[in-house]
Amino acid sequence: MNKFLEDPRFAGIEPFEKRIWLSSPTMHGDEQRWVDTAIQTNWVSTVGENINEVEQQIAARLGVRYAVGLSCGTAALHLATKLAGEKLYGRARAHEGTLQGHRVFCSDMTFDASVNPVAYEDGTAVFIDTEPDTWNMDPVALEKAFELFPEGKLIVAAHLYGTPGKMDRIRRIAHEHSALIVEDAAEALGAQYRLNGRWTEAGALGDYNCISFNGNKIITGSTGGMFLTDSEEDAKKVRKWSTQSREPAPWYQHEELGYNYRMSNIIAGVIRGQLPYLEEHVAQKRAIYQRYREGFKDLPVRMNPFDEEKSRPIFWLSCLLIDEDAMAPQVRTDTACSYESVPGKSSPSEILAAMDAFNAEGRPIWKPMHLQPIYRDHPFVTRRGLSRGEDAGDVGADIFRRGLCLPSDNKMTPEQQDRIIDIIHRCFR
Ligand SMILES: Cc1ncc(COP(=O)(O)O)c(C=O)c1O
Repeated sequence: MNKFLEDPRFAGIEPFEKRIWLSSPTMHGDEQRWVDTAIQTNWVSTVGENINEVEQQIAARLGVRYAVGLSCGTAALHLATKLAGEKLYGRARAHEGTLQGHRVFCSDMTFDASVNPVAYEDGTAVFIDTEPDTWNMDPVALEKAFELFPEGKLIVAAHLYGTPGKMDRIRRIAHEHSALIVEDAAEALGAQYRLNGRWTEAGALGDYNCISFNGNKIITGSTGGMFLTDSEEDAKKVRKWSTQSREPAPWYQHEELGYNYRMSNIIAGVIRGQLPYLEEHVAQKRAIYQRYREGFKDLPVRMNPFDEEKSRPIFWLSCLLIDEDAMAPQVRTDTACSYESVPGKSSPSEILAAMDAFNAEGRPIWKPMHLQPIYRDHPFVTRRGLSRGEDAGDVGADIFRRGLCLPSDNKMTPEQQDRIIDIIHRCFR
């Protein structure tokens, strides 16, 4: 039984006939043409015109000199992290990661794919708390981390939900400590940040930069990712590593560890078909964000924040945060949640359950990495220093507790979105 359908607060609301997705792929037809061309010409492997074309178009669009097409964003992040490790600490032996024995300062509230490559390379992620202004890495906590671990030389910074972090300050701190930045722009393709007075694209803000074409991203190849750089040497290295690290020799000769991470020309065909629609998708996501913002004006909530002067987010996902005094009780264990309904209040768990009952998909905020069982013994640094728990000023845990991601699919109609806004209003009755 769907208890929300019986609940008088929701009287008169019909479930959506077709599910409203968080963020699903949007095909336009051109994708088929480039995939067909690849098949008809028999260029279906990891070489071909689609790959060349998307690499060239993305590099031009983002203002970087080189883009290397890879199988997914995680592969891009792995090779970017490995490259940074090799640059900082030298080449590792085949059975050892380049970051062995080294700490890496990482965004805490993000998808685990941002930070897992540090572990792939045998490093120790030190999680840096989140700031409340953009929900990204807190530069104040980052500075604190450099005080605690002055030997730190690498930062992995993600832009959450399509909103750029405080990259001017993060870059300045990196510069002061001669540290390198791996930029995870997987969720932020198309976003811009004002750096030294110039609008700069997300994906061009670090030393080693990554984007994703995962099925739920702003444009997709079904999967796929890219490594972005201005360095020809780095681009060549990543291309070589991604194709099993073959040396120029008459046989399979290997001096370095290799990976099978290259993008396929079929996937690149889908991306090629999507690229002309990037701006359209961004405009749709921005309109969705504005409509939610307008629709929630009278509720005790606010939308995911951004810096209006310094950034142009894409709002890949629209999110909301419930005011503390409007939070109804909810309990989350490692794998389950429960909540109470209280008049005038609500909780992310209740709103997500209500939306699901009416056939719309939301999602909790990324659970911070320092709260993940796999990383529980790793250092976590807030503005106050090394700590754990909400009483220690843990911003990420607080956003996870009070926030949620709203259905942000760019095929959702304004009427459908209004119904979602209505459902959320009724949760607070
Ligand atoms: C912040 C972030 N980093 C990395 C990734 C990994 O990208 P992919 O799924 O293409 O491997 C994703 C999304 O999937 C992401 O949201």
